[in-house]
Order: sequence, then C-alpha cells, then structure tokens
Amino acid sequence: MGDDGTAIGDLTSPAPQSGEKSGKKHQKKMQPRLFTPIKLRGLTVRNRIWLPPMCMYSAFNRDGKPTPFHYQHYVSRAMGGFGMIIAESTAVSPSGRISPCDVGLWNDDQLEAWRWIVDDIKGTGASVGIQLNHAGRKASTGCFAIGHENESVPFDEGGWQTMAPSPIPFGHYRTPHELGVNGIHAIVAQFRDAASRAVFAGFTMIEIHAAHGYLISQFLDPLSNERTDEYGGDLEGRMRLLVEIVDAIRAEIPDDMPLLVRVSATDWAAGGWDLDQTVETSRVLREHGVDMIDVSTGGIVADVTVPVKPNYQVPFSQQIREKADMPVSAVGLITKPKQAEKILRSHQCDVVEIGRAALRDPYWPLRAASKLSVPADKAPYPKQYRRGAF
Ligand SMILES: Cc1cc2nc3c(=O)[nH]c(=O)nc-3n(C[C@H](O)[C@H](O)[C@H](O)COP(=O)(O)O)c2cc1C
Repeated sequence: MGDDGTAIGDLTSPAPQSGEKSGKKHQKKMQPRLFTPIKLRGLTVRNRIWLPPMCMYSAFNRDGKPTPFHYQHYVSRAMGGFGMIIAESTAVSPSGRISPCDVGLWNDDQLEAWRWIVDDIKGTGASVGIQLNHAGRKASTGCFAIGHENESVPFDEGGWQTMAPSPIPFGHYRTPHELGVNGIHAIVAQFRDAASRAVFAGFTMIEIHAAHGYLISQFLDPLSNERTDEYGGDLEGRMRLLVEIVDAIRAEIPDDMPLLVRVSATDWAAGGWDLDQTVETSRVLREHGVDMIDVSTGGIVADVTVPVKPNYQVPFSQQIREKADMPVSAVGLITKPKQAEKILRSHQCDVVEIGRAALRDPYWPLRAASKLSVPADKAPYPKQYRRGAF
C-alpha cells in the first residue's frame, strides 16, 4: 500500500471517475506528482521535494548551537518551496560530532537555539525534520572552518578520543576505542534524549542517521563490527543498536510523528554491507514503527570507486520500496525537475531529495513548478513572492 492510501502499483494518478476522460488529455491536466502531498502518520507534507540533511559545519563557537547562518540557510529553502527540510546531521553528544563545528541537541540551550529556525520554517508551510547522529570512529575530524579536513583533529587542537564497535580505524583517522555495553546503552539514551528535545523544539519528523559509515552504520557493517557479544556477529546482532535506538525514540516521541532512518544501501565493497541486508533490516524497522527509509549509499570504506551518475542510487530505493514494502526517498544527482518527476511516476520512490542542486538554487522547487507547468497559485510560493513568479 502506498503512503497515501493508494496501492503501490497505482501511484501515478487517481483512476478517472465515470464520465471523466482518460488518456492524454487527462494526463495533461494532472498535477505533477512532485507537487502532491504525502502523509506519514499524522504529518501531511505539502510536496515530495525534500531537502536532504547536509552538514554545514557552522557552529563556530563549538557549542553545538545553530546560528543565524543556519536560520538563513534553512528558512530560505523553506521559502523556496521545499516540502520537507531535514536539518543536518545533529550530534546526540559532544563526542558524537563529526567535527567540533557540528550542531547538536545534547542540551537545552541547543534546543532553544533551534526553536526560531523551526518556527519560521513551519511558518512557510514546509515541514521540518532533524537528522540525529553519532559519528563513532568518524568523529573528531576537521572542517573548512578549523582545517584538518578529512583527518582527525589533534587532541591539543580540540580533538577527542573516538569510539566504535571495534577498534578499527576509518582510513587514516584515529583508531577508536571499543565501546563497552554500558557505553552502548548510554548512546541509546542520548539518541532518545535528543529526540525528546527535538520534539520540544518543534520538529515534526525525526530521522536517525544509520548511513555513511557513522556509528550506527559501523555497527551494522561486518567490515567495521567484529564484536562477539550481542551487538555483533550475525545481522540480528549488528542491527541491535539501531533497533534499540528506534524503540527508544519511538517510545519517546508522539505516536503521530513520523520516524525515518537513513541507510547506506551498499558499501560498494566486497564482503561488506549490501542491498540484501538493507532490505532485511528495513523490514525489521517497519515492524518497529519506522515510517520511511531514506536511501543513500557508501561511507564505511575509505577507498572505493562509486559509479556516480544521475539517478545512481535510485535502483536501491526502488528495491527497498518493493521488497520491504516501505515508503522510500531517492537522492543522489537528481538535479532536473523532469528527471525527478519521472522517478516518482515510475514508482521508484515516494519522495525525491535535492541536495547540492539546492545549495546553488534555494528556489529549486519554485523553478520546477514553472518547468512542469504548475500555475503560480498552485505552486508553493510565499504569498509575498507571487508577483515575482517564474
Ligand atoms: C555539503 C554536504 C553535506 C552533507 N551532509 C550530510 C549529512 O549531514 N547527513 C547525511 O545523511 N548526508 C549528508 N550529505 C549527503 C546529502 O544528504 C545527499 O545524500 C548527497 O549530497 C547526494 O545528493 P545530491 O546529489 O542531490 O547532492 C551531505 C552532502 C553535502 C553536499
């Protein structure tokens, strides 16, 4: 069944009513699927063009608090017509930050700093989610603001000891300490508490970052998890941390609030995480109350060749959608309105995410509406901007 109550095989358009003409004429009048709402639990998102989480590394005071830069960045894109803004990877603890300049939600000052951003995103009619993350062995790295990009920040410059399922480093990064079971339980609680703060800050969707080789993905993946206790070994053991985090968050947030998980559908490396394990895990996540899988790839192995080209991750989305019977997103070099519309119409996903193209054009959805002949009064313009419609 589709998210909007239609059978998955019948998502392109409502069946013509009796007396209504089918065929080309009917097709022409149809609202592009990009601009149809999608309902997840109690949340109706105004369209299917979503902003994926993108780290801005701009909490320059190293206090995890979003700044006026974040306000401008997110609210601009909400005004640009995105249906859902997913705020960037947000650390659940100081040691879970990818870099010292990451935003976080491990204290109430951070909660308050998010609130005005969240309020004004919602004021535009967009929905707003947040991606919660712990970077594990990929924490304590540099960024454009402090240097040491793609390497560990030295201890005497504010770096810290990293933690992971097993003491295996990522590429040339610092070797992590192996987490004990108490440490794992503490991290589950940190995810739960961050989710609770997100609800208080006004976010209407939570996404767990289980992709790109960060902590949860390190547990999932046999290449980075060599544990012999209940958090390692077979797939059930390796997914235990993720399932515990899902359960803890689901119990904490309102029943009508959607919960998403971002996964890497493959490592692109032999012997590692792959599509079959992703499908199996997605089925379990569905049983535990996850509402959509946000499908990406890669991040565990430092030196792999990824066949990057337009739509390169879309087949993974389609497979997960079909085999795990879950709504999914598609992301990765989707840059053109007709390209995005075609992916949706061919039932390969339920929403598309526009990342880098949105960094160069915050009005991507409004431009897409024009390209797809959506009248300005049906496009997600702020009322103040209608006179300037494309
Ligand atoms: C600047 C930047 C920061 C990113 N940060 C995150 C992040 O915080 N969390 C995440 O899951 N993916 C992150 N990504 C990946 C994007 O969400 C997206 O999956 C990727 O850019 C591919 O989509 P695109 O081709 O439309 O850009 C980031 C990408 C970029 C370009």
